[in-house]
Amino acid sequence: MQQAARAAAPPLAAARRALSRAGLRARCSAAVEGGAAAAEAGAEAPSGRRLRVLSGVQPTGSLHLGNYLGAIRNWVALQDTYDTYYCVVDLHALTAAHEPRELARATRSVAALYLAAGVDASRSTVFVQSRVPAHSELAWLLNCCTPVGWLNKMIQYKEKSRKLGDGECSVGLLDYPVLMAADILLYQADLVPVGEDQRQHLELTRDIAGRFNTLYGGRAWKGMGKGPAPSGRARGGRVLKPPEALIPPQGARVMSLDDGTSKMSKSNPDEGSRLNLLDSADTIANKVKRCKTDALPGLSFDDPERPEAANLLTIYQLCSGLSREAVEAQCCSLRWSEFKPLLAEAVVEHLRPLQARYAELTSDPTYLDGVLAEGAARANETARATLGDVRDALGMMP
Ligand code: TYM
Repeated sequence: MQQAARAAAPPLAAARRALSRAGLRARCSAAVEGGAAAAEAGAEAPSGRRLRVLSGVQPTGSLHLGNYLGAIRNWVALQDTYDTYYCVVDLHALTAAHEPRELARATRSVAALYLAAGVDASRSTVFVQSRVPAHSELAWLLNCCTPVGWLNKMIQYKEKSRKLGDGECSVGLLDYPVLMAADILLYQADLVPVGEDQRQHLELTRDIAGRFNTLYGGRAWKGMGKGPAPSGRARGGRVLKPPEALIPPQGARVMSLDDGTSKMSKSNPDEGSRLNLLDSADTIANKVKRCKTDALPGLSFDDPERPEAANLLTIYQLCSGLSREAVEAQCCSLRWSEFKPLLAEAVVEHLRPLQARYAELTSDPTYLDGVLAEGAARANETARATLGDVRDALGMMP
C-alpha cells in the first residue's frame, strides 16, 4: 500500500515541505496528482533512491537579487531532503558574445556565490557543466529527436534573436534549451528549482524526455539486448525522467529597479536596474535611492497600477524575513522617502554574511577548485550512467 502511494505520489509535496520548513512556499509547474498520497510522500523515488534536484546559473554578468531570490536561495533549503546537483552552466554562457579572458574567473565566482549563499559542498554536488562532457554529447543526441519548430517557439530565443538580428544570432542560441534539457535529464532530476522565466524551458525538457521515451524507450529498448542496461537497470520503460519545475510563489520574478514591469536582468545595460549580490552597501543604498517609484501616497502589494511598489515590497519582505502581513502593517502608510532606507538596509543586512563568506572563499582558490573537482567526479559518474542508457536505447555501439 505504502509502495503504491509512493509510486502515485509526485515529488512535489515533499519539496513543498522542505521549502516551507525554510520559510519558503513552492509552486510547481505540473499539476499535483495523488491528493492524500502526495501529502504522505517522502522525498524518495519509487526506485528507493532519494529524489534528485538539479539547477544551474550562467556565468554571465554579475549575479543579482533575482538570481538569488528566484533560484539559489531555494536550492539551499532543498539540500537536507534531496540529492542536490548544482552546476555553473559555462557552455550556456557561450551562446552569446562573451569575453574569453573573463569566463574562467566568472565561472569560479558563480561557484563561490553558490557556496557563500549556503550551498554545502558536503551535501550537494557542485560542479562546472563543461567538466562533464556528457552534457554536450547528450545535447547532440537530443538534438536529433527535437523538432526545430519546438525551439522556434521559445520566448527567450525569440526575444534574444530579435535583439541580435540574424547575423549575430548563433545556432547555439537556438539550441540552448536542448542543452538545458540535457543538463537536467542526464541526472534523471525529479525537481528543478528555477525562476518563472525558465518555466517554458522546463516544459520543453519534459516534451523532449517524453518524445525520446516514446521513440526509443519501452518495448523498443527492451528489444535492444539481454542483461541489464549500462546503468545496471533493466531495459524497458522510460529512459529519461521528465522533471518538474519548482518555482517559488514569491521572488520567482524580481523586477527591474528602473521599470517594475520588466524583469531584473544581467543583460540590462543600465547597472542601476539591478541589485547585484556583490554590490557594496553604498552602491545598494544609491541604487535604491534612485529606483523608479510613483507619486501615489502609501505603498501596496496588490495594486496592478503600482508594479514598482509590489516589487520593492516583495524584495523587502524576502530580505527582512518578515511575513507579508508584518510588512503591510509596517510599510503601507509610509512615504517612498521613508521606505527606501528601510529597504536598502534590509538588502545590505541580508547580503552581508553572503558577501563575507564570498570574500573568504575567493581568498582560497585551492579550496574552491577542490570542491569543483570533487563535484565533477561525482557528476561524471551519475551522468555516464544515463548517457550509457541513452546510447544503448539509440542502438549505438557500446
Ligand atoms: P540564468 O543564469 O539566466 O538565471 C539563473 C536563475 O535565476 C533565475 N532568475 C530570476 N528569478 C527571479 N527573478 C529574476 N529577475 C530572475 N532572473 C533570473 C532564473 O529563472 C534561473 O533559475 N537557462 C538557465 C540556466 C540553466 C539551467 C539549466 C537552469 C542551464 N541549464 C538546468 C536549471 C537547470 C538560465 O539562463 O538561467
